[in-house]
Amino acid sequence: MLDLRDKRILVTGGAGFLGAYLVERLQARGAVVSVPRSTDYDLVDGRAAESLFADARPEIVIHLAAQVGGIGINSAQPGRFFYENLMMGAQTMEVARVSGVEKFVAIGTVCAYPKHTPVPFREDDLWNGYPEETNAPYGIAKKMLLVQGQAYRQQYGFNAIHLLPVNLYGPRDNFDPESSHVIPALIRKCCEATDAGRRSVEVWGSGSAYREFLFVEDCAEGIVLATERYEGAEPVNLGSGREISIRDLVGKVATATGFSGEIVWDDARPDGQPRRRLDISRARSFGFEPKVDLDRGLQLTVDWYRTQLSRKSA
Ligand SMILES: NC(=O)c1ccc[n+]([C@@H]2O[C@H](COP(=O)([O-])OP(=O)(O)OC[C@H]3O[C@@H](n4cnc5c(N)ncnc54)[C@H](OP(=O)(O)O)[C@@H]3O)[C@@H](O)[C@H]2O)c1
Repeated sequence: MLDLRDKRILVTGGAGFLGAYLVERLQARGAVVSVPRSTDYDLVDGRAAESLFADARPEIVIHLAAQVGGIGINSAQPGRFFYENLMMGAQTMEVARVSGVEKFVAIGTVCAYPKHTPVPFREDDLWNGYPEETNAPYGIAKKMLLVQGQAYRQQYGFNAIHLLPVNLYGPRDNFDPESSHVIPALIRKCCEATDAGRRSVEVWGSGSAYREFLFVEDCAEGIVLATERYEGAEPVNLGSGREISIRDLVGKVATATGFSGEIVWDDARPDGQPRRRLDISRARSFGFEPKVDLDRGLQLTVDWYRTQLSRKSA
C-alpha cells in the first residue's frame, strides 16, 4: 500500500466539484496537496504544464482537470470538448513521465463506454463499440488517457492507473442551467417552480433512459483508495452499482424538493445513452464500497442548494 503521508500530490482540477472533496480527503491522509488553477496554468498548453511541474515538483499526480458538462453543452461544443480534454490529458501525462512522477492517476469517465454496452458495464467491454453520440468526443478524448497510460507502462514502466467514475452528484455541484448534469438541473427546475408557484416543469427526453449515480464523496474516497492500493494496467469502474430510470429519478427529486406539480417530458430532446450501470467488483477488490444511497444523497444536495438560495436572497 502506498502511504500518502507527506507525499507531494498534484491534483489538477482540484478546485472543481469532485476535486475539492478529493483534496480534503488527501489532506486528511497527511498528503501535501497542490491545486493549480486554469488561469495560472492552462493545461491545454504544454508549456504551462511544464511550468506547473517545475513549480509543484509532484511525486504523485491525480489528473481531474477537464471540460465537463451535461448533454446540452456536450452537444453544442463537441469540438472544444474533444480538443481540450485530449490535449490536457496527453500533455499532463507526458510531463509527469518526463518529470519522474511515481504514480499517475487518470480520471476517465463512464462516457467512454460503447453506446450499447451490456449491463452491467464491465471494464473488459470498454472497446466493444462507439460511445453514445452526444458525449462521444468527450468520452473518447478521455479514453485516450487509458491508451497513453498503458503504452507508457509498457515502454517506460510508468505507473499510470485509470479510473472510470459514473455520473456524480452532491452538494457544491454545478447548477448552471447551460452546463449542469441531470441531477442539479432537475433540482434547480423543481425548486424554482415550487418557489414561483408554477404547476409544471419541463424535463429533457422521454424519461426512459436508465442512469447510475455516485455520491461525490464516495467517488473521492474511491480515488484515494485506488491511489493507495491499485497498481494495475486495467481500468477500474467507480459507481454505486445501482440504476434508476430518469422517470423515477424525477419523482425522487420532486419529493426531495417538495415539488408536487406536473412533469412535462420534452421528447424532442435527446435521452443520451439508453442504460448505464457499472460492475464495480474490481474496485471492491481493493476495498471500495459506496456509502451514501440515492435518497440520502439527493436530500443532502437539495438541502445544500436551498441553503445557497437563502444565502443569496438574504
Ligand atoms: N461530474 C461528473 O459527473 C463526472 C463523472 C465522471 C467523471 N468525471 C470526471 O471527474 C473530473 C472532475 O469533474 P468535475 O465534475 O469535478 O468537473 P469541474 O467541477 O468542471 O472541475 C474541472 C476542473 O478542471 C479544471 N480545468 C478545466 N480546464 C482546464 C485547463 N484548460 N487547464 C487547467 N485546468 C482546467 C478547472 O479548473 P479551474 O476551476 O481553475 O478553472 C476545474 O476546476 C473530470 O475529469 C471529469 O471528466 C466527472
